[in-house]
Amino acid sequence: MKEIKRIGVLTSGGDAPGMNATIRSLVRTGIYYGYEMYGIFKGYVGLINGEIERLEARDVSGILQKGGTKLKTSRCPQFLEKPYRDKARSICDVFGIDVICVIGGDGSYRGAFDISKEGLPVICLPGTIDNDINSTEYTIGFDTALNTIQDAIDKIRDTAYSHERCSVVEVMGRSAGYIALNNGIAGGADVILIPEVEFNIDTDVIKPILEGRHRGKADFTIIVAEGVKNAQEICRYIEQKTGMVSRHTVLGYVQRGGSPSAYDRVMASRMGDYAIKTIHEGRLNRIISLQNNKLVDIDIEEGLNMQKTVDKDLLKIAKVLSI
Ligand code: ADP
Ligand code: F6P
Repeated sequence: MKEIKRIGVLTSGGDAPGMNATIRSLVRTGIYYGYEMYGIFKGYVGLINGEIERLEARDVSGILQKGGTKLKTSRCPQFLEKPYRDKARSICDVFGIDVICVIGGDGSYRGAFDISKEGLPVICLPGTIDNDINSTEYTIGFDTALNTIQDAIDKIRDTAYSHERCSVVEVMGRSAGYIALNNGIAGGADVILIPEVEFNIDTDVIKPILEGRHRGKADFTIIVAEGVKNAQEICRYIEQKTGMVSRHTVLGYVQRGGSPSAYDRVMASRMGDYAIKTIHEGRLNRIISLQNNKLVDIDIEEGLNMQKTVDKDLLKIAKVLSI
């Protein structure tokens, strides 16, 4: 195997709190093990365009606590086309970059897999608030997003209590319900709607509200994962069927920002360290994952073929706790 001397780092796809902590860990651990570290800006767009700079230890000072990504990120449809990936590989040849560390979500992993098959070694680290990467129990940014969303839900519950209203809160998660499920439990939601579970609005939304009112509940919180159903339409239907004043909140992009939690900072630091050690021990084209609460590195193709789904027992817990 060719000796590794230069390692590139990029962030790709939706940004996530903790990406900067991951960048910092990769750069400093890489320097510690004797590698030259390079920042690739704006994800795959910057890789194709050669937006690349050498990074020294001081270049990642003061970013551990910052949300977003110092390297910027992008969504890059061109990267699905081989000519653009060929350009990216030629750019790496020009800079002498031997392997790239990709911090991103499932889509970024697929781009990394494609370019690894074409000759550019990669290491993937899970960075997305969605927690929807099948090969890992945890993705960097998930804990921070849960806490950001929780603060918002608690505030919404204050006003719903005061006005005896129904609140419908739409949260992110792409096509997965990990955020909605966890924030539903943490927020004491009466109803949680996620893409993984079919629902009937009359039996799964209206009925619990009517039964709750019969038991003396005066305000209700419904968490709906994006894409499942329009929060405003749910509100209108609740008002029609129950007579309760209902208000919707789409949390939007506030869920993606903020200073990373201590958990995300530690996980980011650990995963960055593990990624560099994986390279140092001669393993390439690997995905860094948390499995059974331990860090592992998995072959990228094997990892992309893994399956996981939400813990539907959490839905049962939420239902019992909302009586
Ligand atoms: P995330 O990594 O957060 O899931 P995206 O799904 O947007 O975000 O993926 C990030 C980028 O990865 C895309 O903009 C595209 O450049 C690249 N990508 C996504 N899917 C593929 C694929 N199947 N093949 C090649 N590149 C892909
Ligand atoms: O993947 C992270 C995420 O925030 C998803 O939860 C959301 O659906 C998507 O990104 C939004 O993408 P964009 O930032 O491109 O609008």
